[in-house]
Amino acid sequence: MDSLPPTTSVAALLRWYADAGVDETIEETALDRYALTAALTARPAATTATTTPPPASTPPPPRTAVREPPMTAPSRVPLESPQLVEDARAAAASASSLAELEAAIRAFEGCSLKRLAKNTVFADGAVDAPVMVVGEAPGEDEDRQGKPFVGVSGRLMDRMFAAIELTRERDVYITNILNWRPPGNRTPNLSDVAICVAFARRHIELKRPRLLVLAGGVPAKSLLETETGITRLRGRWFEYTLPDGTRIPAMPMFHPAYLLRSPGGKRQSWIDLLNIRDRLDQILAT
Ligand code: URA
Repeated sequence: MDSLPPTTSVAALLRWYADAGVDETIEETALDRYALTAALTARPAATTATTTPPPASTPPPPRTAVREPPMTAPSRVPLESPQLVEDARAAAASASSLAELEAAIRAFEGCSLKRLAKNTVFADGAVDAPVMVVGEAPGEDEDRQGKPFVGVSGRLMDRMFAAIELTRERDVYITNILNWRPPGNRTPNLSDVAICVAFARRHIELKRPRLLVLAGGVPAKSLLETETGITRLRGRWFEYTLPDGTRIPAMPMFHPAYLLRSPGGKRQSWIDLLNIRDRLDQILAT
């Protein structure tokens, strides 16, 4: 008889799955949706009657353990749902303080990411900080703890700001474009971003920072409404305009996760940090 694998190997296997991004069990066996789509396309038109009905005494066919794929085509991921975007905007607009915005986001059911996330991740840092950092999306650690940038990228980000004498406790307030972790840390799709950016915009409006740092391509592109990539955006000053006309200097930077993968980018990020420090000193002096 096969012996059961030791508990440690099962735990290691689960850990391996989680690290690879598998964080949800949907079916016992994997479903090849490409084959399913092909089969559906090739399926002949259904017949309505059989010419030779089986004799009444024929026993029903035995039930087998084989699972038939569902006979509907897999649903497409909508690129953007205008109604859900409208709902998010209305929910965001109904909030008149950061606490109300947090409550509105927690109550919002229009973003499918929320179904798989453990936590809603709102913000961390000093509420009256002059600098507001907007990142991309919570990762595994952030999802578990319910706070942005608490994992390995967050630790690098804290060290980067510490190098220009800014701390999360006093000078920096942090949030993300997405308030829920995309499963397996996949890149946020257009639909996720279009819905959640409504909350991020209201977040900036209610927080009213003196300076914005956009950490990575997703916040830079969505908040500056551009298709230009982060490599060309970083290091340049932009103006982010609030609905009342207030203009906030905004600096796109490489995301710390990118710097962990490509340490060569740290030299450019150091220049960006010095630039941020200079601009902040000017702002605080006025
Ligand atoms: N990366 C992000 O963009 N945000 C987080 O909160 C963590 C990692």
